[in-house]
Amino acid sequence: MQQVKLHDKTFEIYIPETEISAIVHSLATAINNSGVQKPLFIAVMNGAFLFAADIMRQITVANAEISFIKLSSYQGLESSGEVNELIGISEDISGRNIIVLEDIIDTGNTLVKITDLLKNKNIQSLKIVTLLCKNEAYDKDIPIDLIGKNIPNDFVVGYGLDYDEIGRNLPHIYKLKKEEKQC
Ligand code: IMP
Ligand code: MG
Repeated sequence: MQQVKLHDKTFEIYIPETEISAIVHSLATAINNSGVQKPLFIAVMNGAFLFAADIMRQITVANAEISFIKLSSYQGLESSGEVNELIGISEDISGRNIIVLEDIIDTGNTLVKITDLLKNKNIQSLKIVTLLCKNEAYDKDIPIDLIGKNIPNDFVVGYGLDYDEIGRNLPHIYKLKKEEKQC
């Protein structure tokens, strides 16, 4: 599908499934070659659920584990600025090599919340891996270790990303279609 309609908006294809697969493969290869030992992946729900599932199938590092946290900040097309913790970290993560899996980094508010959650937990190391990054919008100091693709400040949906909870099931990533001005 070249275009999809979700709620009141039209979206056009932006990153096709084949390109997403190639990006996920290159991220998995970088992690596999990084020398990390016994990593504990933490996937940020809901947006990262497909990305996490796809990348984990390509991780060959011994004794890799995965856990999930659920955070929410977006309302409609914009970040609310406030990040809510819906499901936190339940297990003991002291001494662990943590790899956070994010779908997209925008303002970085969610990332700040994640690093706050991991603070004082005596973890061994922290790496941040994101499928997408809106590098013009990101204004925080936390280093992002691996970025699948930098994108402009456009609203995107599909492959786990939603517009008011719908569109997560789309296999491609779509961007909001600019309104055509009528004379
Ligand atoms: P941040 O806290 O502003 O960095 O936003 C991060 C979170 O907001 C991501 O994990 C997504 O869940 C959501 N988000 C940011 N940009 C988009 C977008 O373009 N489409 C859908 N969700 C987005
Ligand atoms: Mg997210």
